[in-house]
Amino acid sequence: MTFPCPTIWLESLPLAGGGTLPGRVLPGPMEGITAGAFCAVMNELRLVSAWVTPFIRVSEGIPRQARLRDRLAAFSPLPTVVQVMGTDIPMLAQTAARLATEPGVVGIDLNCACPSRIVVSGGAGGGRLRHPRWIRDALLALRRACPTKGISVKIRVGVESAEELPWICGAVREAQPDFVVLHYRTVEEMYRAAPDGLRRLARARELLPGVTLFGSGDLYTVAAAARMWAVAGVDGVTPARGLVATPWLLRDIEAACRGEDVRVHTDEEKRDFLRRLISRAERDGAWRKGLVLEVARHQFGREHPLFCRLASADSAAAMLAGLA
Ligand SMILES: Cc1cc2nc3c(=O)[nH]c(=O)nc-3n(C[C@H](O)[C@H](O)[C@H](O)COP(=O)(O)O)c2cc1C
Repeated sequence: MTFPCPTIWLESLPLAGGGTLPGRVLPGPMEGITAGAFCAVMNELRLVSAWVTPFIRVSEGIPRQARLRDRLAAFSPLPTVVQVMGTDIPMLAQTAARLATEPGVVGIDLNCACPSRIVVSGGAGGGRLRHPRWIRDALLALRRACPTKGISVKIRVGVESAEELPWICGAVREAQPDFVVLHYRTVEEMYRAAPDGLRRLARARELLPGVTLFGSGDLYTVAAAARMWAVAGVDGVTPARGLVATPWLLRDIEAACRGEDVRVHTDEEKRDFLRRLISRAERDGAWRKGLVLEVARHQFGREHPLFCRLASADSAAAMLAGLA
């Protein structure tokens, strides 16, 4: 079966200052998931061409260079856009300037979308959407601090209501970022269903003429990406949880852009991914049962016998035996 996705999503995206992103089908950042072993396996299987990192919180001083370098190791050697989150513009700009000196970093992304109650009550993440002019000023400051890198922003459609979108988009437009990623929910909606999500994205498309717009929200399948294109005409997509369920999703969407059929992934392929994930995490001394179960739950569902076997395992070796 084919799903019409546009060939423009296969084109590289030039960024200010000379860098590029190799395409416009990018992984959505996921704190606690797109890190360490998960990224290593995605890189090993060549399922991704560039990374957008989960947020680096900048709240109590500028993180040390060595700490920033550590955070970036998982994404190497692919071109990486590093996401920062905070409320203090000078601190964010100085952190970005440090990140800009690290190899592989092609851009800095400002997180104005995180819905965590603790983050938002401190004014950061999605809480920044209450202050559109701050977002504009922060993006301009990041641009000045990192003249050779792309500057982008991750937003939601509003804090309480999608009616906030015109003010948010107006301020973002003034800063002319290299691209914008819009998750179509409000902050208060967290991850609840948003039936008019694609229409909200289409509205943003109108409000951000000339700005490269990536869509985010419930991109679990190639069909969902094709629908997002058909309704909202976005310039690119950033599936997140769909990558946990189907690590091949970015490549499948790219295949659809080339007019190819969508491949069905077998249980054996999924087991192979889990095996690699467990082995890699164990080798790195970073085995976390929670991460493996999260991936297995997305891939097979809680009721599947394989998920139940993994849930009752208490070591990496027992998990690998459960997969046999
Ligand atoms: C566990 C988890 C962690 C996330 N962490 C981040 C993050 O660090 N930065 C960010 O911009 N978005 C983050 N997101 C949001 C996703 O990138 C994405 O916008 C959202 O999940 C909607 O897309 P999806 O329905 O395809 O998952 C996270 C989402 C999840 C589920």
